[in-house]
Amino acid sequence: MKFNVLTIFPKMFERAYQDGQGVVAKSILKGDIAVKPVDIRSFANDKHRSTDDYPYGGGHGLVMKVEPVVLAVESINSVEKTRTIMLDPRGKVLTAKVAQDYAGSLQNGDYESITFICGRYEGLDERAYDLVIDETLSIGDFILTGGEIAAMVAIESIARHKSGVLGDEMSAVEDSFSNNMLEQPHYTRPWTFRGLAVPDVLKSGNPLLIDAWKGEMQKSVTRKQRPDLIRQRGRDLTEKLDIYVGLMHYPMVDKRGDIVGTSLTNMDIHDISRSCMTFDVSRYFIINPQAPQQEVAMRVTKHWKEGAGLAYNANRSEAFERTDVVSSLFECIAHIRTATGKKPFIVLTTASGDYDFKAPYEIVCDAHDADAPVLLLFGTGWGFHESVFQMSDAVASPINGRGTYNHLSVRSAVAIMLDRFVNF
Ligand SMILES: C[S@@+](CC[C@H](N)C(=O)[O-])C[C@H]1O[C@@H](n2cnc3c(N)ncnc32)[C@H](O)[C@@H]1O
Repeated sequence: MKFNVLTIFPKMFERAYQDGQGVVAKSILKGDIAVKPVDIRSFANDKHRSTDDYPYGGGHGLVMKVEPVVLAVESINSVEKTRTIMLDPRGKVLTAKVAQDYAGSLQNGDYESITFICGRYEGLDERAYDLVIDETLSIGDFILTGGEIAAMVAIESIARHKSGVLGDEMSAVEDSFSNNMLEQPHYTRPWTFRGLAVPDVLKSGNPLLIDAWKGEMQKSVTRKQRPDLIRQRGRDLTEKLDIYVGLMHYPMVDKRGDIVGTSLTNMDIHDISRSCMTFDVSRYFIINPQAPQQEVAMRVTKHWKEGAGLAYNANRSEAFERTDVVSSLFECIAHIRTATGKKPFIVLTTASGDYDFKAPYEIVCDAHDADAPVLLLFGTGWGFHESVFQMSDAVASPINGRGTYNHLSVRSAVAIMLDRFVNF
């Protein structure tokens, strides 16, 4: 793996790596990785070898001149196929994935080297970007005084993907950010220190228990420190998500908390079918054990699928293609099992309560990890009976408005919730 670094301070790189401290510097000394500093000043043609000048238009500071940088890059381009990257706070942000992509482009032979350009002062004359720079890279939303340290950071994060650089080949795979998760905590001897003991499970010798602990810790650390990573993972997975919707009428509770069966409304048949079609839900199950109400649902859908309704509005027929009527939650689950071969990940929705609420993106990740389709259940009346909560795998965070009034129709809740599960 070869890196060229265009800089006005080449000694910074010589000093950084000369003692072989750390695995990357060691690999450089061994010759597995090459870091070649190129002095931009040696490409300056005026008698003072100047690499900077005053900005056109006035303003603070100096600007790096275009000519020495362009000549320096061209000198490299003439001998090898290089990927030229300007370190620039305005650039694409360096992440584990970006580093891995750069490493891949060297390992698969797309490029023979990466050439980093280190800016100084106010930055580089914009024309160099047009002429010789392929990409811009930032190491974060802060300003350094120069690109040298940013180049070292980028080199370190890319070089560790080269086989042999890291001691333990698996550690790059297990490190934080692979799979958009942070790593679990680590412990080594002694077993107790100042009254603090290592978690017992790590001494159990049971690899299954230890793996389960690691997975749980990764989730909880990521949830606490970087929920944005879980959100990103959810976003990456949402296209593959297989969603089912169930509208339950029994067992619900009434305002006194007693178990009741509620009534199906015509609007819930129509509007939820339309939302489910819009959000590409695999099936919408109307879950109602009462035969006369099932009869109503079937009459309504038949009217629009086959009867006069079809002749009048064919779109509505399309919306009802995915609508089914079943007697119980168990029957609904059985249908999903038959269709997918998997038990669904059951997600309850509620406007309030004391539950361990999960954001839709967390639920998408958990369902993916469980290799299960998601069944989003919506209630009627005063909400689900406790027995339904006990069957659930997750409870989705409630939809909150701007005030204390929170009485959305279930139809509205379905549309909002589906949007939350699909677009985040
Ligand atoms: C003082 S900075 C110039 C900042 C520039 N005026 C701006 O506001 O975007 C000088 C050089 O340091 C490097 N640099 C500073 N912050 C950086 C960052 N976060 N990532 C990558 N390079 C950075 C760049 O090469 C930049 O050209």
